[in-house]
Amino acid sequence: MRVLSGIQPSGRFHLGNYFGAIRQYIELQEGNQAYYFIANLHALTSTRDRELLERLTLDSALDLLALGLDPAKAVLFVQSDVPEVTELTWLLSTVTPMGLLERCHAYKDKVQQGLPADHGLFAYPVLMAADILIYDADKVPVGQDQKQHIEVTRDIAARFNHLYGEVFHLPDPYILEHVATVPGIDGMKMSKSRDNTIGIFEDPKAVKKKVMRIVTDSRTVEEPKDPAACNVMALLRLVAEADEITQWEDRYRKGGVGYGEAKKRLALLLDEQFAPARARRGELEKDPDTVHDILRDGGRRAREKAAEVLDRASRACGVWNPGRDNRKT
Ligand code: ADP
Ligand code: TRP
Repeated sequence: MRVLSGIQPSGRFHLGNYFGAIRQYIELQEGNQAYYFIANLHALTSTRDRELLERLTLDSALDLLALGLDPAKAVLFVQSDVPEVTELTWLLSTVTPMGLLERCHAYKDKVQQGLPADHGLFAYPVLMAADILIYDADKVPVGQDQKQHIEVTRDIAARFNHLYGEVFHLPDPYILEHVATVPGIDGMKMSKSRDNTIGIFEDPKAVKKKVMRIVTDSRTVEEPKDPAACNVMALLRLVAEADEITQWEDRYRKGGVGYGEAKKRLALLLDEQFAPARARRGELEKDPDTVHDILRDGGRRAREKAAEVLDRASRACGVWNPGRDNRKT
């Protein structure tokens, strides 16, 4: 099975990204043909800072490799290293109804808020459809927020196939909905736009400070507490062993445990869980040539597949490229 997903380099990865997405990408590299890319072209719709985008593109690659993405198992590449994708985006645009894109949430939300929207944001789902269709992906693991884009991808592919024959393979979404939303330190969904994140690669001291600031209610140590309603417990559940989670839940219900104690344990477990990745990241940082080689090789492997599918699509709709292999037959 071919699995494909993209992640935008629009900020440093946080615990929500890891438990909500990255951890699953890494699991899915086992026993599948996995393609993962850093969606720098998509990030251009929200980042206009050249240096920041460049830095975050490399940071994202380092983070993913350090967290266990294995270039011997998965193809890791940068989206813009496969220019065939933007060419396919055009072919797909010509069969994409305006109404379909007008209903897409990122664009619709901006317009509803009275904010100016550019063509990139409007066309974003078509670029995403090209990303997916160009690798004949079977499964696309994404968060709930991206489900609509996979449906749009299927609609566009079906329309192209209806007009020109069976060119595209229709992908299935693999919605990571069994994953609970990871709360941020304010108790709302952890998100870089809310400034409530705990970074995966943040310094352990900074992480501890943030953990100690996690919002809780004001129950005293003695009072019984509801483990289901506590943000500290929600994070502990992600990093502690099952036995330990049960013990914390029992102690919460009985009373006699303070939030401070749970926070200290959480900070320690986070430190332990990510220490190996932090060390690997440190090593990778010292060896930028290896990281470049991995990305270059990933780009080359991704392009091979992309060229094949673009050729199929171009021939199907009568785009003849006399200067390329795609001959009139
Ligand atoms: P952000 O909300 O910080 O902008 P992104 O939208 O770039 O993060 O997230 C990329 C993916 O990481 C999402 O599609 C989703 O699967 C996952 N994700 C992000 N935040 C969370 C969270 N708080 N809980 C669970 N998953 C999350
Ligand atoms: N739009 C996705 C996000 O913001 C990132 C992305 C771009 C993607 N192209 C993709 C995800 C293709 C899956 C498949 O999270």
